[in-house]
Amino acid sequence: MAAGQAVQGEVPVIILREGTQRTRGREAQLNNIMVAKVIAEAMRSSLGPRGMDKMLVDSFGDVTITSDGATILKEMDVEHPVAKMLVEVAKAQDAEVGDGTTSVVVLAGELLAKAEELIEKEVHPTIIIEGYKKAALKALEVCDKIAIPISITDKDTLKKIAKTSMAAKIVSEDADYLAEIVVDAVLRVAEQVDGKWAVDLDNIKIEKKEGQSLRDTMIIDGMVLDKEVVHPGMPRIVHDAKIALLDCPLEIEKTEFDAKLHIESPEQMKAFMEQEEQMLKEMVEKIAAIGANVVLCQKGIDDVAQHFLARKGILAVRRIKKSDIEKIARATGARIITRIEEIDEKDLGKAKLVEERRVGEDKMVFIEGCENPKSITILIRGGTKRLVDEAERSIKDALNVIKDVIVENKIVAGGGASEVEVALALRDYSKTLPGKEQLAVEKFAEAVEIIPAQLAENAGLDPIEAVVTLRAKHKEGQKWAGVNVLEGKLDDMYKLNVLEPVLVKKQSIKSAVEAAAMILKIDDVIAASRLEEKKGKEEKTGEEESSFE
Ligand SMILES: Nc1ncnc2c1ncn2[C@@H]1O[C@H](COP(=O)(O)OP(=O)(O)OP(=O)(O)O)[C@@H](O)[C@H]1O
Ligand SMILES: [Mg+2]
Repeated sequence: MAAGQAVQGEVPVIILREGTQRTRGREAQLNNIMVAKVIAEAMRSSLGPRGMDKMLVDSFGDVTITSDGATILKEMDVEHPVAKMLVEVAKAQDAEVGDGTTSVVVLAGELLAKAEELIEKEVHPTIIIEGYKKAALKALEVCDKIAIPISITDKDTLKKIAKTSMAAKIVSEDADYLAEIVVDAVLRVAEQVDGKWAVDLDNIKIEKKEGQSLRDTMIIDGMVLDKEVVHPGMPRIVHDAKIALLDCPLEIEKTEFDAKLHIESPEQMKAFMEQEEQMLKEMVEKIAAIGANVVLCQKGIDDVAQHFLARKGILAVRRIKKSDIEKIARATGARIITRIEEIDEKDLGKAKLVEERRVGEDKMVFIEGCENPKSITILIRGGTKRLVDEAERSIKDALNVIKDVIVENKIVAGGGASEVEVALALRDYSKTLPGKEQLAVEKFAEAVEIIPAQLAENAGLDPIEAVVTLRAKHKEGQKWAGVNVLEGKLDDMYKLNVLEPVLVKKQSIKSAVEAAAMILKIDDVIAASRLEEKKGKEEKTGEEESSFE
């Protein structure tokens, strides 16, 4: 009987549309697990500082070189629904804590690989899921227990944490310098709300410009716009800026429909132009009248308006991104003006300085000393576009990691140390559980050891030997023993200053287990045939009936 058919009496009942593919039961589970393993396999080699980078070419031929898990998955353009689920998990990890995306996918893949072994031993997926969930809870408990509290004023430690997160990226050589910038930036925007520390990373704008080197990356006290002042007659620098922030054009709006204008004499033409000019002049005068000396506009600024603005000594910039306009509003306290007629003195934003400066080949506009001192920009410099792009990803990861540790100020050592410690505790814990759940918890313990194993492998060590030795060391109480990938040996990772927020570790475990459980729960995959393929077929056979009803 074909998939999607049932038989009632002698009449077959068609349930699923023709062309639907269906796999069920163990076959479906094993297929899904295989997909997850393939994705994890692809990611594994980029884990850790000795991990490799991936070169991704999108359908437009644009090249990205990265070892950032979330970026690799985003660009991979996967097809299978299970692969898509893993991409979602990595994205969620990225959104939640901003780091550990490679780990989460590698871990989810390994949890599923271990589950496969259990399924083959006739352990039902429901039991595996139960066991995994218990193991995860225990693992989180262990993380909390081993984590070491730090003080958020301890800049030295914060720098080490930022460095660990950047160590695995292309920018690692300049990690020291960039870590300092990242920590400074986060500390400047951190604030205490109801006795708790909070960090709003939206206060930190990231702007990048090719040229010079990563070491010329800097924090600017305020905002930077990748734009120029529109008119040569305008001032390039304005102190005590009063900023009018417009999201309407400084132009005479063209009518939506075509209109014909009969002009019969040069005088009429002149009068017409003069009228337009007059309207623009009035707009500019309105802006000048309330005391604005800077105009930042999301839309266009007409040449004539530019001329009038210049005459009034107003510095103007046009076609600023909407997201930047919103950030400027937050930074300077300006209210975004949608209609020039309604402009009011109260709408103006304030900054100590607005200045156009040359950066590399281009000019950029700096807005410094904003009313809100928490608005800052990290201006990333670097030799090539790919380098500044990867620097941006690494800096974003590091900003998030520092934010994480400020929100929950506890850390663990990396290099697989915390994972081996978790596995050790889980093995003890498993002994307290009944038969098959015990098996599942043991498999979970094996699965988390994929992190030290993979770090070892990427560093050219024998992964099995490394894990076995690490287990022994942890049993002896060396709780931070891990893989020193830079020197290719086992070491105390805490002493080596390889430090990570416990929040990232905990989130990786949570997300990986959720993903694995979700995938294990599926025992029936029903895939409709592709619309395009179907359409193609219909066109060929000349069928008239539409099947898209
Ligand atoms: N110097 C080091 N020695 C050993 N391990 C390190 C070192 N620095 C970082 N690690 C480890 O590398 C792993 C992180 O690697 P990586 O940053 O490539 O992946 P991720 O954080 O999981 O994902 P991504 O950063 O791509 O979102 C962590 O397990 C961390 O402990
Ligand atoms: Mg990382």
